[in-house]
Amino acid sequence: MRSLVVDYQTSSGVVHAVNDVSLEIEPGETVGLVGESGCGKSTLGKAIMHLIPANNGQIVLDGQNITSLSPSAMRPIRSKMQMIFQDPHNSLNPRRTVGNLIAQPLQVAGYDKAAISARVAELMTQVGLPPDAASRYPHEFSGGQRQRIGIARALALKPKLVICDEPVSALDVSIRAQVINLLQDLSDKLGVSYLFISHDLTMVQHIANKLIVMYLGRIVETGSAETIWKHPAHPYTQALLAAAPVADPHVMRSRKRFVLQGDLPSPTDLPEGCAFSTRCPFATDHCRQERPILRPLGENRRTACHYDLVDQIESAASASVSSLSRKAEEKYKVGARA
Ligand SMILES: Nc1ncnc2c1ncn2[C@@H]1O[C@H](COP(=O)(O)OP(=O)(O)O)[C@@H](O)[C@H]1O
Ligand SMILES: [Mg+2]
Repeated sequence: MRSLVVDYQTSSGVVHAVNDVSLEIEPGETVGLVGESGCGKSTLGKAIMHLIPANNGQIVLDGQNITSLSPSAMRPIRSKMQMIFQDPHNSLNPRRTVGNLIAQPLQVAGYDKAAISARVAELMTQVGLPPDAASRYPHEFSGGQRQRIGIARALALKPKLVICDEPVSALDVSIRAQVINLLQDLSDKLGVSYLFISHDLTMVQHIANKLIVMYLGRIVETGSAETIWKHPAHPYTQALLAAAPVADPHVMRSRKRFVLQGDLPSPTDLPEGCAFSTRCPFATDHCRQERPILRPLGENRRTACHYDLVDQIESAASASVSSLSRKAEEKYKVGARA
């Protein structure tokens, strides 16, 4: 996908929901797409799926440019791309049985009856639904199981790419890991690629090989999930990490230094220069005047920041850790003297 642009016309102006975004997803790869609510993640997913039109740019699937295909030309390609939504409740017709729901894409694709029932049974096993689920209705199932139904439907036609838009955000915390593990297993077994969308960086880095961090419609940092997770280079990525829970209280507290300040600028009236400059603790006049382009930083990453902040972010974090441990020491001494 290259230089994708998606605008919405609204009564208060044009929303540049996705602005010049390029990304590549290799076969079998999971790419995580993260950013605050409203940064354009769902819009990007829907534009790739052709659920909404792109204003500019190119979408290539399996070597084929599918950007401006007509709906009828898109039909055979639809089976290669599927989407899983946040709320399985809304995307499953309540009046159809689970067996029926999973069979539907196969019927549309022209499978015969015997092939459909064999495939439905296979899919139900793959996603861990009990065999008797086929004759029951979606409302009889828990949120986690409904999401399994959604996954089975999405996988029915053996897609190459599945776009998972916040697939576990609506689920109980206790069952999120199960659904994530299922998705991961299925990717290992079936070689399917995912674009995994979430506002939660911690969760995404568990499942993704590659990360894309978006802010107000643009990529601010992208690269290997490991590099970005361990040594974030963009202050916005750092801020997302600060918002994520961490087991170690020292790390937790040092990260808190980067908690986001101020409000998200209006998407119809973006700031000059770097869109993040209004909330960035490192912003200079240069940032407020000139928008940084996405540039390589090291081997496995690109970042849209004028500066190399990896070390600065890290030394600020470790300085605050040592000052914390010094304080803890002093406290202990005082306690010992008393
Ligand atoms: N149908 C729409 N019409 C107008 N604006 C929209 C529409 N859908 C989304 N937007 C706006 O586009 C921006 C990106 O939204 P979205 O892609 O849903 O973000 P995310 O999925 O990251 O939360 C937001 O500012 C949102 O308000
Ligand atoms: Mg969304």
